[in-house]
Amino acid sequence: MEEVPLLRGSNCRAKGAAPGFKVAILGAAGGIGQPLALLMKMNPLVSVLHLYDVVNTPGVTADISHMNTGAVVRGFLGQPQLENALTGMDLVVIPAGVPRKPGMTRDDLFNINAGIVRTLCEGIAKCCPKAIVNVISNPVNSTVPIAAEVFKKAGTYDPKRLLGVTTLDVVRANTFVGEVLGLDPREVNVPVVGGHAGVTILPLLSQVNPACSFTSEEVNHLTSRIQNGGTEVVEAKAGAGSATLSMAYAAAKFADACLRGLRGDAGIVECSYVASQVTELPFFASKVRLGRSGVEEILPLGPLNEFERAGLEKAKKELAQSIQKGVTFINK
Ligand code: NAD
Ligand code: LMR
Repeated sequence: MEEVPLLRGSNCRAKGAAPGFKVAILGAAGGIGQPLALLMKMNPLVSVLHLYDVVNTPGVTADISHMNTGAVVRGFLGQPQLENALTGMDLVVIPAGVPRKPGMTRDDLFNINAGIVRTLCEGIAKCCPKAIVNVISNPVNSTVPIAAEVFKKAGTYDPKRLLGVTTLDVVRANTFVGEVLGLDPREVNVPVVGGHAGVTILPLLSQVNPACSFTSEEVNHLTSRIQNGGTEVVEAKAGAGSATLSMAYAAAKFADACLRGLRGDAGIVECSYVASQVTELPFFASKVRLGRSGVEEILPLGPLNEFERAGLEKAKKELAQSIQKGVTFINK
């Protein structure tokens, strides 16, 4: 529709609104992208929200833009509009790419999603090299190393600003542990370390807050359910995709933590898959402290019990291969 000359403040933030951050969602018309766009439009820290996808962004943008919250929403459609979508952004969230169907592993998505993440990260390197980047597209264990290699090639790599989103593993762990212990899941905090696929998802049940203990049967059940939470949803959706709503919730929670860190709030700690020296691997998910420059501190793993130490060895073996696969994809 043609813009009518009746608007005194078209495309401006409401008078009196606090200054906020500029956020872009790449893949904004997808199963995750749409509810994530809704949640980010509701976030008072967001002043400008850019919605980019290769399909359907005009409709999603028109819809979301009618919400009477502070953020100004703009839509961008297709590769020629990628640069405008990215210019000036403080935070870029990437849920672009294909999801799993039953019987697939996350690594089966590599062939399609690796190229999508590469192209989008080339745009970020060019148009908003200082932005914090949250990578959701699977396989996260490989797409984060891919993003790092793209940024290295462009000369813009800052490991503090590149974060793989593993929040859904923590969200699930808190929910499932809450169910087993009969606790409010909002009061439960389970560190989940390693990566984001199968055995690389390593919940540290010995470090649950509030302190508690589990029988070995409970440990086996919880570890397996947390590691296979994604597959549980893929199978229940029976070919219609993977987790979208719980993922949008998790991504919005993580993006909010990144924005609060950028604002300078103290004590923001989340698990994330980042460049790390916690193990001998170049990338690893663990608790990180977020601040004005992104990842300001990577917290140690803390004491692991025998079950967790064995899990860590399995996780590292698979992670090493996934990381190498991502690095090779860019440098081949
Ligand atoms: P979806 O198919 O519903 O949406 C993906 C969107 O990406 C689509 O709108 C599509 O048009 C868009 N897209 C494709 N190519 C693009 C490109 N080059 N540029 C911009 N956009 C592009 O999928 P979904 O359910 O939203 O899942 C998206 C990704 O997130 C999948 O890879 C999935 O495996 C992953 N995922 C990760 C987690 C996690 O915990 N990190 C959780 C759930 C899903
Ligand atoms: C999840 O954990 O739900 C996502 O990684 C999607 C998937 O393929 O399982």
